[in-house]
Amino acid sequence: MSTVHVMDHPLVAHKLTIMRDKNTSVKEFRDLVSEIGMLITYEATRDIPLTTTHIETPICPMEAPTIAGKKIAVVPILRAGLGLVEGVLRMIPSARVAHIGMYRDEETLEPHTYFCKTPKDIAEREVLIVDPMLATGGSADAAICEMKKRGCKHIKLMVLVAVPEGIRRIQTSHPDVDIYCGAVDSHLNEHGYIVPGLGDAGDRIFGTK
Ligand code: PRP
Ligand code: URA
Repeated sequence: MSTVHVMDHPLVAHKLTIMRDKNTSVKEFRDLVSEIGMLITYEATRDIPLTTTHIETPICPMEAPTIAGKKIAVVPILRAGLGLVEGVLRMIPSARVAHIGMYRDEETLEPHTYFCKTPKDIAEREVLIVDPMLATGGSADAAICEMKKRGCKHIKLMVLVAVPEGIRRIQTSHPDVDIYCGAVDSHLNEHGYIVPGLGDAGDRIFGTK
């Protein structure tokens, strides 16, 4: 069974509250997605291996810790996942970016994939799939399947807000994929929206409503 890492941090809780407020502007919402993305990346990379390198500080020589050069790909689920990419790249500047285009049918809530472009060596990379919302879990489930089809073996899922329904779906379909999230909300409403949630993340990031 995969692990769910819920961010237990006042900065994340505070920033999410501003995002949840329906009066928050598009610009502020977008900035906050990116900032929380950066903070969750901190948690999602806690287990990346370190090696040492020889340096000289102004005081003395030292064998100092440095990241072992693990290859990482961040995979935003379009559109809303794009909002998280900047924050992840600020923490992991050398990461490659793969895009997966997906939308949820408003009636059936089933995901439809319309685009997928990955680096050639995606199978050798640690993959971090990012999307602000884990609702039914259909989109994340399908995105994980796409990455597995391409040979990826080490996959993590990072979201801002999840609900138990979506978490259960991912844990059942992909027990090897850990989930990192900013908060776990109560439930889905009859339209498949997270309650209390933050509304339609894509529309709020891109100002399309
Ligand atoms: C939203 C969100 C997720 C999906 C979550 O995208 O960004 O991708 O819904 O719902 P699920 O867990 O039930 O699949 P949407 O389909 O609205 O597309 P958009 O990003 O283009 O707005
Ligand atoms: N997608 C969103 O953007 N918001 C939700 O609450 C659920 C799915």
